[in-house]
Amino acid sequence: MEKLLIKGKQELSGTISISGSKNATLPILAASILGNKIKLSNVPFVKDIYTMLELLKFIGLKIKLDKKNKTIEILNKKKEINTLAPYKLVKTMRAGVLVLGPLLTKFNKAKVSLPGGCAIGSRPVDLHLFALKKLGANIKIKNGYIFAEARQGLKGTKIKFPTISVGATENAILAAFGAKGKTVLLNCAIEPEIKDLISFLNKLGGKIKIKGRKVEVNGNISIRKKINHKVIFDRIEAGTYLVAGALVGKKIVLKGINTSVFKCEIDTLKKMGVKILKTKNSISVFKNLKLKRVNIATKPYPGFPTDLQAQLMILMTQAQGKSKIKENIFENRFMHVPELKRMGAKIEIKNKIAHISGPTKLNGAEVMATDLRASVSLVLAGLIADNRTIINRIYHLDRGYESLEKKLKNCQAKIKRL
Ligand code: UD1
Repeated sequence: MEKLLIKGKQELSGTISISGSKNATLPILAASILGNKIKLSNVPFVKDIYTMLELLKFIGLKIKLDKKNKTIEILNKKKEINTLAPYKLVKTMRAGVLVLGPLLTKFNKAKVSLPGGCAIGSRPVDLHLFALKKLGANIKIKNGYIFAEARQGLKGTKIKFPTISVGATENAILAAFGAKGKTVLLNCAIEPEIKDLISFLNKLGGKIKIKGRKVEVNGNISIRKKINHKVIFDRIEAGTYLVAGALVGKKIVLKGINTSVFKCEIDTLKKMGVKILKTKNSISVFKNLKLKRVNIATKPYPGFPTDLQAQLMILMTQAQGKSKIKENIFENRFMHVPELKRMGAKIEIKNKIAHISGPTKLNGAEVMATDLRASVSLVLAGLIADNRTIINRIYHLDRGYESLEKKLKNCQAKIKRL
């Protein structure tokens, strides 16, 4: 099994190109089921994307990859489509459930494996199913599968989500896209990745409007023959390198981003005293040895993202005084804490709140990655720790970070895959 070896305390300087967003590419790939000929650019070639492509191939779409140019072409020519998403492909990546909306709306039926739980929490799909039922689907759960059917097709309606969910908002938009008439979705997630999905669907021929947390989807559309779409940048990857720069950056420049969708993260770091210079499409970040404490609570966009909480925690271990993180989105997202404590971090968890005391010197150790964002927080800890840090189970990292070692090595980090 592969491991990462990091020799800490190296000052970093250089430029990092931020990849396209994994969390935007996944729903857009699912949406490709609705199109004809699609060319996507700025695609991050990470494990989760390959899993979704496997699923699309299984369904019957033709895929052409060009890794060098970071593009994918998707051709949807076959008449005989498999409206099934099997367990073996959905179990490793929950986003597989996003093919449910497109399959159901286009073919009036779908059988999709229930994704089940994962390390960070139980992660049900009840809100996805709630929206599909409102659109007229008949849904049964049997043998670990969701059986969905709408013999007469889906029908537009008004749906108010009881709680905000990224995936459920996406599945509902995708299903409403092919429904008859107008659908109004209220209390939606409005992450930039959802706005990118909407912009993709509108290029495909859709008439979707978004205002606040309300999304209006007009059905009865004709699908364009051929479209191109450039995926937005990965704001979580950018936030991760922003924290790296704040920890050990002589000067780190991030390019390929749009700072206007990235405000809460930048403001939080600035509050901690991190020096950040921004233009519209780049950020320079410099380390600060006298960081100030801060309290954050994770929230749906535009709040602080849960996907960046573990990384920010490393910065908090270096700040003066006690910082707090309240995790509001997932019930089990502090799994990196025991590993960080083994490296010398002073962190207490009470209820949903992590109390981080700093500044603390971290010592290199052999640690275990538990999920995608927890793994990268261990990489950040390794960058500031004394001696060597070895991170096990890095397949979690490969699910979502493109060329992590290469990007860090280009900035002089001492990092090696074993
Ligand atoms: C997406 C992101 C993930 C991010 C999360 C929150 C992708 C591929 N993944 O995940 O990286 O951490 O948003 O920003 O984009 N919930 C229910 N019932 C449901 C659906 C969700 O109770 O049917 C709950 C979840 O358990 C969780 C909360 O709602 O507590 C938010 O989850 P959701 O926004 O749906 O996250 P994902 O779409 O799975």
